[in-house]
This record gives sequence, structure tokens and C-alpha cells, in this order.
Amino acid sequence: MVRRHSSSWLWLGCFLVFVFLTGLYQYAFTWSYAEYYTHWGPSVPLRPLINELKAGQDVSVRPVNEFAYPYTYSSTEKCDSKESVRLMYVVKSALENFDKRTGIRNSWGFEHRFSDVEIRTVFLVGIHPSETQLQKLLEKEIEEHKDIVQASFFDSYFNNTLKTMMGLHWTYHYCQNVKYFLFVDDDYYVSTRNMLRFLRDPVHYPQYLEKYVVTAMNEYREDLFAGYVFESSLPIRWVFSKWYITLDEYPYSRWPPYVTAGAYVLSRKSLEDLYFGSIYTNYFRFDDIFLGMAAKKAEIKPFHHKDFYFHKKLYDIEGYKWVIASHGFDDPKELMNVWSEQRSAGNA
Ligand SMILES: *[C@@H]1O[C@H](CO)[C@@H](O)[C@H](O)[C@H]1NC(C)=O
Repeated sequence: MVRRHSSSWLWLGCFLVFVFLTGLYQYAFTWSYAEYYTHWGPSVPLRPLINELKAGQDVSVRPVNEFAYPYTYSSTEKCDSKESVRLMYVVKSALENFDKRTGIRNSWGFEHRFSDVEIRTVFLVGIHPSETQLQKLLEKEIEEHKDIVQASFFDSYFNNTLKTMMGLHWTYHYCQNVKYFLFVDDDYYVSTRNMLRFLRDPVHYPQYLEKYVVTAMNEYREDLFAGYVFESSLPIRWVFSKWYITLDEYPYSRWPPYVTAGAYVLSRKSLEDLYFGSIYTNYFRFDDIFLGMAAKKAEIKPFHHKDFYFHKKLYDIEGYKWVIASHGFDDPKELMNVWSEQRSAGNA
């Protein structure tokens, strides 16, 4: 009895020492570098260059990181309509996630949810280098739905930044008539109704609905870039983490402010700025940090809103009343159930 007792204390002791040492390790790195840098920041202001590019002028400094993979399917007819499109869902999807795409088309991605609002949905995928069967299935899907954008890079989790770059490139070049874009992952729940309400008055959402305060509604917020924002989080220097990053890769003590890449909304103008920022930002394998850097270069400030959930918000009917987007919907059946219930309750 006594021996077992003392050995569990020993384990607890070891565990605490281990936690303490790893904490110290991360802290020591952060501390020693904090003297030299706080946040990452661009070495020269990029805004003048972006303005020149937007005006169609020749610039002396060439972009460092343009999206260069050819499109195998580009579904450009999505943006062909003469009418202005209020909202486009640009869904980052893994090639093999056929059932998730079906779930999204039948729930929040349904383009005819509201008869008086133009909505579009597209899915971004890469290719598989060897599985021709997957590509055959995808081609069937394309024939049926015409909502897939595919470029010829290997579709894998660690190529997420490429997929994000593709999204910016594609929307910038082909979708001039879209007012707002929601970039979102295929494992999210989204409420289209709340998304549209949010866009009517982002700063006062959802209070303006609750208190009936009449504010400047339906204005076009041309500098909008919103989602769940991390203001100054620390890079993870813990070797065993999935998000471990070496000092060579990133020598600064803090990340730039960034929006969780799972769901963020951009006005057309912010999209253009971010696109130009991104082609002057070196490739970085974490897509949210990459966008944070691009946004800082383009001088667009991310706007935080708590109703974008970067984790999964525990479900209950009332609790989801104002949710705009929530992560963690891996199961399309669950997504359908939640969405149907929220739609019936008037929240989706
Ligand atoms: C990303 O895609 C490129 C181009 O297809 C490929 O060479 C590379 O191996 C991919 N990277 C990862 C981590 O899958």
C-alpha cells in the first residue's frame, strides 16, 4: 500500500517537473527574443506599392509569392451573373470529403435560401497525385453541381496555405460582382441568416436585433475583415506540438494579429487588399499566420467577433441563436440536424 502510494507521488512529481521545464523552455525563448522583436512586421511599408498595383501601374518590386498552379476546373460561371452577389461562400474542402460537400449544399450552402438575396457557394480542392478514382468521382460531382474550383497541387492538410492562396487568387480574378466572401472550412456550421444580419451592421451585431436600435444598416463596409481574432498569441516552441515552429522559421516572439482561418469574412475591397498583401508575403505553412502577415502588410485590421467560434460551441437550440459560424461539424448528419433545427427556430 505504502509503496504504491509513494510511486504515484513520484509520477506526479516527474510530471510536474516535466510541465515546468517545457513551460520554462517556451518562456525562455519568448523572453530572450522579446527584447529585439515584439510582433512580426513588414520591413518596408507596402501600402504605396499595393495602391500602384490596384491602379494598374507598373511596379518596380515584383511579387514574391504568386499562386502559380493551373486550374483544372475553375467554375468561373459562378460569378457570371450581371446581378451583384451579396455573399459568396468559399469553402476549403478536402478532395475526398464528398459527403461533407453534400451536407453543406443541403444546408447552409444552399444558394436559394432567401429569394431576395443572391448567394453563391464554391468548394476549393487540390488534386490527388495517384488516385484516379477520386478524380473520376470529382468529375461526376462537377458535372452535377458546377461548384468546384480545383488547381493542380497536392491536396493535403499541410498545403492549406496553397489552398488559401488559390481562394484569394480565384475570387480576385473571377468574382468582381461579389460584395462579401466568407472563407470557411468544410467542417463548419454556418448560419446564413445570421451571416447576413452581421453584414448589415457588424459592429452592433447582435445587439441591434435585440434592442431594435436603428443604426446605419445595409451599408457596404468596404474595409471589412472579420472573424475570431487572436491579437498577440505566442508561437509554440514546444517540440512535440503539431504547431511547433523553429526559431529559424519564425524568429519573433509574437504572432501578428490573425483571424482563425476556419471562418472569416471579407468585403470585396478587403479581399483585393489581402490578395495583394499575400503575393508580397513569403509562403508560410500556417495559413492563418500567413494571412495575418498579408493583412498587416496591406494595413487591413481584423475585426474580432465572438459569434465566430474557432472551437465547437456546445449545441443547444437557444445557445445557437446568434452563432454565425462554429467549428467542429465533422459529421454531415449532425450538421443537417443542427441546421434544420436552427432554421425552424428562425436562426439559420
Ligand atoms: C503541396 O503541393 C505541392 C504541389 O503539388 C507538392 O509538391 C507538395 O509535396 C505538397 N506538400 C505537402 C506538404 O503535401
